[in-house]
Amino acid sequence: MTDIHIVVLAAGKGTRMKSDLPKVLHRAGELPLIEHVFRTAGALSPATTTVIVGHQAETVRAALGKRLGLGFALQEPQLGTGHALLQAEPLLAGRAGTVVLLSGDVPLLRADTLVALVDRHRQREAAATVLTAEVDDPHGYGRIVRDGGRIAAIVEHKDATEEQRRIREINSGIYAFDLGPLFDALKRIGAANAQGEYYLPDLVTIYRSRGLVVETVTARDPMEILGVNSRRELADVTAILKARRNDALMESGVTIVDPATTFIGPDVTIGRDTVIHPGVYLEGRTAIGANCTINSGVRIVDSQIDDDVVINNFCVICESHVARGARVGPFAHIRPQSEVGEGAHVGNFVELKKTALGRGSKANHLAYLGDATIGEKVNVGAGTITCNYDGVAKHPTVIEDGAFIGSDTQLIAPVRIGKGAYVAAGSSITADVPADALAIARGKQVNKDGWVSRNKKKK
Ligand code: UD1
Ligand code: CA
Repeated sequence: MTDIHIVVLAAGKGTRMKSDLPKVLHRAGELPLIEHVFRTAGALSPATTTVIVGHQAETVRAALGKRLGLGFALQEPQLGTGHALLQAEPLLAGRAGTVVLLSGDVPLLRADTLVALVDRHRQREAAATVLTAEVDDPHGYGRIVRDGGRIAAIVEHKDATEEQRRIREINSGIYAFDLGPLFDALKRIGAANAQGEYYLPDLVTIYRSRGLVVETVTARDPMEILGVNSRRELADVTAILKARRNDALMESGVTIVDPATTFIGPDVTIGRDTVIHPGVYLEGRTAIGANCTINSGVRIVDSQIDDDVVINNFCVICESHVARGARVGPFAHIRPQSEVGEGAHVGNFVELKKTALGRGSKANHLAYLGDATIGEKVNVGAGTITCNYDGVAKHPTVIEDGAFIGSDTQLIAPVRIGKGAYVAAGSSITADVPADALAIARGKQVNKDGWVSRNKKKK
């Protein structure tokens, strides 16, 4: 097996996006367009990856950062696709193997299509193999001109004759090249054409005239080669990626009630028989177990949800863990570094931040629990607030197993409620409560008999 070297074209201006952000950094779903391309290319286990940058080169470079085997080549000015690939020469000098050329704005390409392209290229020992597609509307694309069945040339739309424009087999702009003759041949490409550009597809004619083998592979699904040139196309491509992801999850045993409104990131995993209701967003490294119900309007980011969990409507859960059999929501906010224990309940308008709620514990209504460690079988009454911030620093609250926190209580941290202790409703707790004790910390009630009538008479 020879080495694979990926080259990704990303120097173009992307004028039609009407954006200050380079086109390849626009996101389709969670990932920038070019990240989709990298992931697909990953299937080839490339030895190197080179990105050709030009317009806003520094922004693209900074966004992609340092990665193993990743290099950048600057194309300045942008004189066409042939000129673009030529810029990779210094990075690939002295190497052998296969160059796979991809476009940073073509995110729908499938890994198996790319593998088929490289397989054919190697089998036929070709100098170049072009990925083509049969499309209904070939307008704007380079046309594949064949002679006796073999590819003879690629003619750009602007340079094509009326007859050539009727050809519906088009150039995807994705190719495999043998490194051997590549850079020498690229230098022979001229710019005498309608756009005055150095056209990479002209390699086909150059290779054919030298008697080198040029092959083609036709993509089974022409959608795969769609490029993004506008926000409209970005939305189209995003919808297709979303549908693919949802289809794969449904295939694996997840029920998605309304795939059109369900957004599940590429790295999310979901177990069997989990039901996802409409309008749910699952993002980042979220892992959801089996047999869960995720109701409408929920957003979960970078979190782990174990089996048999119910997340009720309109919850936001970030960087947290919800253990088996727990119930959360509706309208709960689980903020980073929180842990909802096995069988625990977090009800409506409850916010957790950096808080562990132990097994079987309940905070069912209207509470803020921050920097708190709450044991098992604790009952947190409605309106409980951990006052964790004194304006300077955050302080912890500890509530031990079996404690009962009455409604509308403020726990002024740092503070500890001992095992099985009771806190009376309406208390402002400023000192630790020993195990088994009842703490009452509120003004004593005074009833003034006849006060209302007396006051009314005065008026
Ligand atoms: C190109 C092909 C065409 C093919 C089509 C598929 C050429 C001459 N034509 O046309 O046969 O059907 O793709 O989509 O190659 N780029 C650079 N530097 C440049 C010019 C372009 O990096 O100097 C990048 C662009 O950012 C883009 C890609 O190359 O990612 C394709 O360039 P574009 O101008 O869009 O090519 P097309 O005219 O669409
Ligand atoms: Ca062009």
